[in-house]
Amino acid sequence: MHRFIARHLSTSCPIGYRVTPAHLSASPLLDLKEGSSLYVVGGLYGNLQALRFIEDLTASHSDSPTVIYNGDFHFFDKNRAVFDEVQRKIVGNESAFVLATAGNVEKEIASKDSVSCGCDYPEYTDPNVTKRSDAIVGLLKVNAEPHAADLDSLPILRRVALTALDSTKIKVGIIHGSLSSLSGWEYAVENVEPIDSKLRSDLNISPDYPITPVSKIVEDMEEADVDVLCCTHTCLPFVQDLGGGKVIVNNGSAGMGNFKGDRSGLITRILTGDEEAGGEVVYEIEAGGCRVQAIKVDFDFEAFWEEFSREWREGSPARESYESRISRGVGFWTTDRAARRI
Ligand SMILES: [Fe+2]
Repeated sequence: MHRFIARHLSTSCPIGYRVTPAHLSASPLLDLKEGSSLYVVGGLYGNLQALRFIEDLTASHSDSPTVIYNGDFHFFDKNRAVFDEVQRKIVGNESAFVLATAGNVEKEIASKDSVSCGCDYPEYTDPNVTKRSDAIVGLLKVNAEPHAADLDSLPILRRVALTALDSTKIKVGIIHGSLSSLSGWEYAVENVEPIDSKLRSDLNISPDYPITPVSKIVEDMEEADVDVLCCTHTCLPFVQDLGGGKVIVNNGSAGMGNFKGDRSGLITRILTGDEEAGGEVVYEIEAGGCRVQAIKVDFDFEAFWEEFSREWREGSPARESYESRISRGVGFWTTDRAARRI
């Protein structure tokens, strides 16, 4: 067990990133009005078009859903005006229904001294990807400077209670990475039981790289006192019923494609009743008294590409690392593999 933990807790993990399940259980519980729904939006990556889509979708609800931007909402927004608008609509939003948690991008761009993206990539990530992510974050610092205090003071985890129509409380934990680190990888779909061997092979993961048992995640969630755990950092979406009323979900990216041949972003929605809500449900799971849904972010791709390609020319770090995913989604990932049922 100690070896398992040691290999997942990289020594490069900044001290401010460290969390424990106890931190989450001790965090204030935001108790939503009965029947209210919750959206969790991870990895917007400065995509203003995706942000506008999410605003329109949530505004169309008959209730007032709470929307939590779960970190890495900045990244491609090198354009100052775009950055400022993303910042104003998320961190500067005065609505009680729009909240944010920090991701590694927000932490690092707010830091004058940092020279890293804070992604804490695992050993199976191409080192060139790491270098390019560091460069992207470095280029955002000038935009972040006037907002550094606001970004740095964002919480890194949140706990929300939804109330079902039968008065049952469903507690949802929200953290960018995992319950060991803001940028943790042990809950990444490629590392969680049941192991998807094809995925491990696609990602060139060595056979002896640690696997996270379902029992470990359940144990963490019990200690954190949550029924549903929402994360995003590892950027490959999945939802999994862990049994015993526990669900883990990773929304992948709200601002980039997630599945083979699909440019749409993806966000998580949690409903406590059987009401119909807008948007296209890509997949959903019913467990623990709620419906956890993956909702398509069908943003204006042409407008986003025009903004992105103007700021990130051929050969730039964002273009090199992400043009393929932005244009065609994740070639090896499909919705049937993301909706994991055990
Ligand atoms: Fe991240």
